[in-house]
Amino acid sequence: NTFVVIMAGGIGSRFWPFSRTNYPKQFHDVLGTGESMLQMTARRFKDICPPENIFIVTNKDYEALVKEQLPQLTDNQILLEPVGRNTAPCIAYASHKIALLNPDANLVVTPSDHVILKEDVFTSVVQKGLKAASQDDVLITLGIEPSRPDTGYGYIQYIDNEGSDIKKVKTFTEKPNLELAQMFLDSGDFVWNAGIFIWSAKSILNAFRQHLSEITEVFDEGNMVLNTSEEQNFIARAYSQCRNISIDYGIMEKVDNVYVLLADIGWSDLGTWNSLYTIGEKEKDGNVIDGDALLYDTKDCIIKTPKERLVVVQGLENYIIAEYDNVLMICRKDEEQKVKEFMADAKAKR
Ligand code: GDD
Ligand code: MG
Repeated sequence: NTFVVIMAGGIGSRFWPFSRTNYPKQFHDVLGTGESMLQMTARRFKDICPPENIFIVTNKDYEALVKEQLPQLTDNQILLEPVGRNTAPCIAYASHKIALLNPDANLVVTPSDHVILKEDVFTSVVQKGLKAASQDDVLITLGIEPSRPDTGYGYIQYIDNEGSDIKKVKTFTEKPNLELAQMFLDSGDFVWNAGIFIWSAKSILNAFRQHLSEITEVFDEGNMVLNTSEEQNFIARAYSQCRNISIDYGIMEKVDNVYVLLADIGWSDLGTWNSLYTIGEKEKDGNVIDGDALLYDTKDCIIKTPKERLVVVQGLENYIIAEYDNVLMICRKDEEQKVKEFMADAKAKR
């Protein structure tokens, strides 16, 4: 009774122009391995549950992309959202649907845009989490040793009970400001939330009932129609009644039965250009190159351009040079938070 829910509905705006509204990053072969992020994510669970227990939640616009990339899935395993309402409604929908199929289901909920280098360790960590989640009313999240004061993550402080690597969580702070993130990092008491969650369907629905009851009530009304031909119509109405909120703000910051499972799994969230730069192989002068480039006096840049284009660069340091489809972006690496803005402005132009 293990089920996996892959959240694949984000638009990856911090990865523009590579990530586009009609082709977000989870559908790209970001690492050049021949597999998209979504395909890598699905494959990661091959030893954790049978393929028919893997569910993808995504926007209806990406239905064809998901079917093309994961042809083994049946239609009932692809949950289509009419609009993105962030991760809380996405998880509520999947949990209600799966609980109807199997009331004793245990769930692993995962983003679709992470890299995990140590796959074997990941499998055993998840199995450990599943065991704990099937025994107790706990919400488990994987915790990662932090390496920088990144403000894009959740920070978790836990009670250190020697002997077990499942620790009770004391505080959960989603996306702190830089000052706070630096304090958390310096204290040495915090880990990052990987955003990979393990819980029983019962426990997460319970938590929704307590903290986001307005969302769970909307889906409760669908108990008669989920997993029937009426599902899509119901979901269109249900989503129009849900507000936009992430599971981190809506549940994880609020509940007191959160546990963190420390996971040394070679994790990175490929959310931004800098994260791709960090894990990328550095060539001469610290450049990370995916494309065909001739560089002069150019240092610490990340270049991701179509192979058929020769890119010649002189005198740039710490820049992102990224081309995809009909957009070429050149942006300072330390200003990458502006990429979202560029994406919005560019939409108005083309
Ligand atoms: N189906 C669906 N619908 N999926 C969504 C939606 C939605 O409306 N919004 C986001 N997702 C998917 C994204 O595609 C991604 O795979 C995952 O859910 C997480 O969403 P992000 O938007 O990437 O979250 P984040 O990176 O800002 O923060 C989360 O992840 C961090 C680690 O990477 C939080 O859980 C943080 O606490 C955590 O540290
Ligand atoms: Mg993310």
